[in-house]
Amino acid sequence: MKVGVPTEIKVDEYRVALTPAGVRELVDAGHEVVVQQGAGLGSAIADEEYERQGARIVPDAATVFGEAEMIVKVKEPQPVEVAMLEPRHLLFTYLHLAADIELTHGLAKSGALCIAYETVEDEHGRLPLLAPMSEVAGKIATQAGAFMLEKPLGGRGILLGGVPGVAAANVMVIGGGVVGYHAAQVAIGMGATVYAYDRNIPRLRELDVAFGGRADTCFATTLAIEERLPDIDLVIGAVLVHGAKAPHVITREQLGMMKRHAVLVDVSIDQGGCFETSRATTHTNPTYEVDGITHYCVANMPGAVPITSTFALTNATMPFILDLATFGAEKCIVNSSRVRKGVNVAAGQVTYEPVADVAGVPYVPVEEALGLTVVA
Ligand SMILES: NC(=O)c1ccc[n+]([C@@H]2O[C@H](COP(=O)([O-])OP(=O)(O)OC[C@H]3O[C@@H](n4cnc5c(N)ncnc54)[C@H](O)[C@@H]3O)[C@@H](O)[C@H]2O)c1
Repeated sequence: MKVGVPTEIKVDEYRVALTPAGVRELVDAGHEVVVQQGAGLGSAIADEEYERQGARIVPDAATVFGEAEMIVKVKEPQPVEVAMLEPRHLLFTYLHLAADIELTHGLAKSGALCIAYETVEDEHGRLPLLAPMSEVAGKIATQAGAFMLEKPLGGRGILLGGVPGVAAANVMVIGGGVVGYHAAQVAIGMGATVYAYDRNIPRLRELDVAFGGRADTCFATTLAIEERLPDIDLVIGAVLVHGAKAPHVITREQLGMMKRHAVLVDVSIDQGGCFETSRATTHTNPTYEVDGITHYCVANMPGAVPITSTFALTNATMPFILDLATFGAEKCIVNSSRVRKGVNVAAGQVTYEPVADVAGVPYVPVEEALGLTVVA
């Protein structure tokens, strides 16, 4: 199969979907790889490094889309990229369609087969292609929150870890999955007082063991959150209902219960945001204020540390890319429930139920959309 790697064009996005190691694996397995000139530069990977492993460098995205059957990307396709997709294409990337109805319709219209990294799900309900970026985003969330609490940046002017004789800041993490765990661990490491909220009791048990008494775990009811909010300096929102629009865990009215110039970091913004007052921001302009509360809602947080993120992401995606190229998408969809769950759009239909619900279109199971027979 011919695999294409375009340069990412979303604002402040420096990751790339394939490393030279990935090119090597694909070429050794008999595939062809075309990489857009300069695609790796944001992650400190030169064109020559791709060429040395057998990739061909092409001048622009139009050539990548024109030549390749499988397009591997990092972020959701931007409008100019959607316009280049055709029914013969397999698109493998993050899509986050529950937050973008227009993109859902655009992809359906393209006829391409679109597999979303974030809904590929293993037998235990884990998300192996979201997890590496959630690990990164969780760690950045606390770093960014600590920074935004500084007075010159509009924050309350409190140091996350305090100093001897002066109390540390209070950090509330809502959603104790991969993002929440890593955000809490960094906050604990910085010396903050940390409260981690989730609605999944087995997960709270795991967190309790992992924190070893260095943070409190709390069941996330509206009342429990409201009772703690007046004491909180930094809230990190990290909830996820797989593939669906994020539920709102803090409303505009509840902002009034918080200290002035406290900070909200909404990591769930890529799924529409988990605070009522959230709207997506960029690394260039990461924050805005509502009712005296700073909001940080960057939708591609890992894009800020591409040297870490590109390698963390491609370590996880590479085996899937290799299988899709070697066996073809249809065989992978039939044989792997992980890949099947990843398909969001196929043959013009929306094949992921929560996305279909948000877009207001019928949900069609992928096997039906593609006329495949799945045994188990
Ligand atoms: N902004 C970014 O750059 C960026 C990067 C990576 C991940 N993310 C996003 O971060 C979010 C979290 O990802 P994750 O990998 O940690 O997911 P995860 O599935 O590992 O964890 C989500 C947690 O939220 C909990 N939850 C669900 N509803 C809840 C509620 N109402 N109250 C409290 N807890 C609730 C779940 O029980 C689960 O433990 C996702 O939306 C993901 O797409 C954003």
